[in-house]
Amino acid sequence: MATLEKIDACVFDAYGTLFDVVAAAKRCQDDLGDNWGPLAQIWRDKQLQYTWLRSLMDEYVPFWQVTQDGLDYALATLKIDDPDLRKRLLDIYLQLDAYPEVKDMLGTLKTAGLKTAILSNGSREMLASAVDNAGIADVLDGVLSVEALGIYKPHPSVYQMAVDDLGVAKERICFMSSNAWDACAAANFGFRVVWVNRFGQAEERIPGQQEREITDLSQLPPLLGL
Ligand code: LAC
Repeated sequence: MATLEKIDACVFDAYGTLFDVVAAAKRCQDDLGDNWGPLAQIWRDKQLQYTWLRSLMDEYVPFWQVTQDGLDYALATLKIDDPDLRKRLLDIYLQLDAYPEVKDMLGTLKTAGLKTAILSNGSREMLASAVDNAGIADVLDGVLSVEALGIYKPHPSVYQMAVDDLGVAKERICFMSSNAWDACAAANFGFRVVWVNRFGQAEERIPGQQEREITDLSQLPPLLGL
């Protein structure tokens, strides 16, 4: 397969792309039993829906609040009333594991002279905590949060933030997301996009077409000729 040419920066979505979002529910499997999978799914779905709804309503609150609201919806749906478990789930969410290939992959990109950054809905504190926990601060040039804008993905101003911050033209930025809708929106904005289809999902029917599809981030450096 031909490599992607003329890329100066690699920009990554955070949750589900670099950090394992289902890890929190999975680590509480002893308490949740068979509910851990449904809880993880409802929590993530609601968290994202609330970002879109709040953006349309012009009612921004930081992602940490949206994350708690999504969890409360999921717990109520599954009829779980357990404040200690709620606290444990949220504490773990602040220290999510990075997927196993992430650190080496970022190191390879940096060694090759590419700029690297996170561009995420996550609030600054959440991202700082996850980056610190994963030990990847020294292989990132930037950690960009929508908190500076007060609106969520897929608003185009979010993707523009990476262009402005990195000082790299959008057609020389390669953007990676496991969220198909985020990949589409980033491509529609004008980034070169690699969809990290970790979960074997179908393509979205919205504007924007990724250039490549991979199943995990170990496949990214070869795509860039590294
Ligand atoms: C993020 C969400 C969309 O990190 O995963 O922006």
